[in-house]
Amino acid sequence: MNPRHFAVALLISFFSFASLNAGTVWIDELNLTTVEQEGGAPVKKLALGGHALTIAGQTFARGYSTHAESWLAIQLDGQARTFSAKVGIDDEVKGKPGGSVEFVVLVDGQKLWSSGLMRTGDAAKPCDVPLAKVKLLELVVTDGEDNNYYDHADWVDAKIESAGPSTFATVARAVSEPYILTPAPPASPRINGARVFGVRPGSPFLFTVPASGQRPMTFSATGLPAGLELDAMTGRITGRLTNPGTYAVILRAGNAAGRTESPLRIVCGDQIALTPPMGWNSWNCFAQEVSADKVKRAADTMVRTGLINHGWTYINVDDFWQNHRASKDPTLTGEVRDAQGNIRPNSRFGDMKALADYIHNLGLKAGLYSSPGPWTCGGCAGSYGHELQDAQAYAGWGFDYLKYDWCSYGGLTLGLAASDPKLPSVEWGKGTSNVDLAQKPYRLMGEYLRQQPRDIVYSLCQYGMSDVWLWGGSVAGNSWRTTNDISGNWKSMRNIILAQDIPAPWAKPGNWNDPDMLILGYIGWGNPKPTRLTPDEQYLHFSLWCLFSAPLLIGCDMEKLDAFTLGLLTNDEVIALDQDPLGQQARCVDTVGDVRVYSKKLEDGSVAVGFCNFGARPAELKYANLAGLRLAGRQQVRDIWRQKVVGTVTIGREAWPLVIPTHGIVLLKFTAVPAPIP
Ligand code: GLA
Repeated sequence: MNPRHFAVALLISFFSFASLNAGTVWIDELNLTTVEQEGGAPVKKLALGGHALTIAGQTFARGYSTHAESWLAIQLDGQARTFSAKVGIDDEVKGKPGGSVEFVVLVDGQKLWSSGLMRTGDAAKPCDVPLAKVKLLELVVTDGEDNNYYDHADWVDAKIESAGPSTFATVARAVSEPYILTPAPPASPRINGARVFGVRPGSPFLFTVPASGQRPMTFSATGLPAGLELDAMTGRITGRLTNPGTYAVILRAGNAAGRTESPLRIVCGDQIALTPPMGWNSWNCFAQEVSADKVKRAADTMVRTGLINHGWTYINVDDFWQNHRASKDPTLTGEVRDAQGNIRPNSRFGDMKALADYIHNLGLKAGLYSSPGPWTCGGCAGSYGHELQDAQAYAGWGFDYLKYDWCSYGGLTLGLAASDPKLPSVEWGKGTSNVDLAQKPYRLMGEYLRQQPRDIVYSLCQYGMSDVWLWGGSVAGNSWRTTNDISGNWKSMRNIILAQDIPAPWAKPGNWNDPDMLILGYIGWGNPKPTRLTPDEQYLHFSLWCLFSAPLLIGCDMEKLDAFTLGLLTNDEVIALDQDPLGQQARCVDTVGDVRVYSKKLEDGSVAVGFCNFGARPAELKYANLAGLRLAGRQQVRDIWRQKVVGTVTIGREAWPLVIPTHGIVLLKFTAVPAPIP
């Protein structure tokens, strides 16, 4: 063969090889473990709930189902021709509220196709995208800009026409390295946490002195009023106060490395929760999978990790400690109440008093959940018609905190009967715009809780309906959710942050706005995985919750706490912002481009300021508007996360230089420097 013929033959064999491999690559044949989605994992060839993939009555054999917000990236390296699919919300969530999404296709970072807003029941929309020369294909499902409830999103018949390879690699999102800012606490004792504590006359008293440092440690106090005792070894103050009054106590802690003391103001009166409650709640990690064992292990971990030494106190059981209205899970079935109407815990919980005792014996407090309708949001037994009995049961068992939801009560305000099997369990922020009706169930339970012989922190969970911050305190509420549920992503958190400006002025000791639980660590509503927030987003999250004087409820699997997350949760100077006795919620006082400036006045006269970058790029600026923070004169500047002074600045004359990471925060404290004595 002459060389020319040889070259032609080579070319022909190359093309026939390529065309041999060219063909269809189904998305459901790829490795989908790299998919990021809200809770759980994507399902191939079936809907998330295990049914056939079905959109508006049409079923499909191929494709995958995912939950918004969802992201899948496929490396194509110019080897593909087209992507095609049909998209829509799966029929398995028909009749459930809130299903709305947008499907988006990105090629090399550019948005090439969007479905527009789609709702449950909409017919499948076809999607065809050319891919010649494209390196990276991304399939995204957003929450449709509301929330991601019931956003079961199907990409059906989804396939790539390949120009060669018979498969493509999927890629995991690049993760930025976590970095720990919190300095390790010294071996010598340090007393942390709240400096003021409220209790009602006659209620059992439990306050564990939160102190970090080497063990063994011994404790003592001066100024403890009659009726209270401090255990020198455990640092627990117990007993009962009969007389209202304010008592100035000095707490002391000592160990082999040193001694310390710190003031605590005990206020015996009408109001409790004088600083925002701090603790853990089962929902964001375990949801319907919660059990007494898991709760006990969370309590053990609160102590073992030393979180208790930084003020973390409550161990709160959320939904699913009761029996369910219709579940087939044998651990959730059974009578919801006994013949006398007493609520029955499900078999995963059994003895509720034993659980509360277990938690108290660790020096912690116990919390529970219910709903004013006959059913909770998860479809378990609620308190409707049994409010007094339930309040008595919680107190009798020894619980110290009640989160009271709204679910299935909305249906009652709309005229459905409590016994109606069609009464929906799940409704978020729906039911009534009538303030009297909105207040009624909370006032009722509030009164019954107040009649109990123990202090029960009362947390309203009705998503901000009827401007709850205006009246939550008047129905005995200690805190109230201001928005719908948080989910584990930046967008959900950002929207909640932006909604805090309106309720901010109403926060005060005993009455707190609640932007929902923390989404740090391993979270995932029954399928815990590492949070999808970047490290910078996590710093911003925890800092802002503290600036907001928010109840701090860890939402993660406590047994999977890593050093980074522990660093976030144990920075005593950051926590001190949340627990500041003045109880003023930070407000956004200025914006510079994507940077929002939050300022919070503290009891000692200093001001904490969070410079938050909501933009997609790092922000670098010289911030000159310090006078806008209502500061004057010469100020010392302290980096709160790093716990060190970083300089001084004269307001009105100098600007402060800032470098703020993408979605990150710079958290500073400004304290007036006394003028020199002439
Ligand atoms: C609602 C609440 C959540 C959780 C669930 C339980 O959605 O907002 O925090 O308590 O109910 O079903």
